[in-house]
Amino acid sequence: MILNSDDLGSMERRYRAAFVNSLSGFKAANLVGTRDATGNCNLAIMSSAVHLGSHPPLLALVMRPDDAGQHTLANILDSGVYSLNHVGETFFAAAHQTAARYPRGTSEFNEVGLTPLFEAGFPAPFVAESSIRIGLELREHQKLAINGTNLVIGEIVLVAVPGDSIHADGSVDIAAAGTITVSGLDSYHRVQALGRQPYAKPGAGW
Ligand SMILES: Cc1cc2nc3c(=O)[nH]c(=O)nc-3n(C[C@H](O)[C@H](O)[C@H](O)COP(=O)(O)O)c2cc1C
Repeated sequence: MILNSDDLGSMERRYRAAFVNSLSGFKAANLVGTRDATGNCNLAIMSSAVHLGSHPPLLALVMRPDDAGQHTLANILDSGVYSLNHVGETFFAAAHQTAARYPRGTSEFNEVGLTPLFEAGFPAPFVAESSIRIGLELREHQKLAINGTNLVIGEIVLVAVPGDSIHADGSVDIAAAGTITVSGLDSYHRVQALGRQPYAKPGAGW
């Protein structure tokens, strides 16, 4: 089946969102933990985390336009800190439920039964159930001219990772740590490793 711009444009809104959201491939599933100025915790699932660089260690999130009234974006812009917590197999349904539009001030941790965890000196909540937890400080926020989405760039300032999941070369075996992946807006998958490959060089036998 071949679809062109006209076909995409004439799709019903939700159908198009589900279709186009599936096209970028399997995505990271993270819970973003924040707090508002009065200390209320907030948690939201996001699949848009992108690696921007290792030195400084940067991750970016793409967040919906401000008019969606997202509490996560407002909290990050106010407080300058947030956490990213890998979604695991045992709590993917609870993680998904954080996408519901709860009223401001309602903690999704309480609503979905996940546990806030605090590390000394870091104001944003982590998710205790998550085996890989990352603390970030906001470094840059760009409202993209093309569609009003927000690019939120943070520097990693804290990482909690199971020690036995770090390979000798520094890479992390996130599957062994229980991290899962998401396709589209609602389809969660466990992963099965196919194997690692050597550093790619022209002419090397593959
Ligand atoms: C699988 C999945 C992935 C999502 N990824 C994102 C994302 O990358 N960026 C975003 O702005 N919203 C994303 N959402 C929607 C947010 O989770 C949703 O808008 C949520 O209500 C935001 O909560 P908040 O208002 O407490 O910030 C995603 C939802 C689901 C179910």
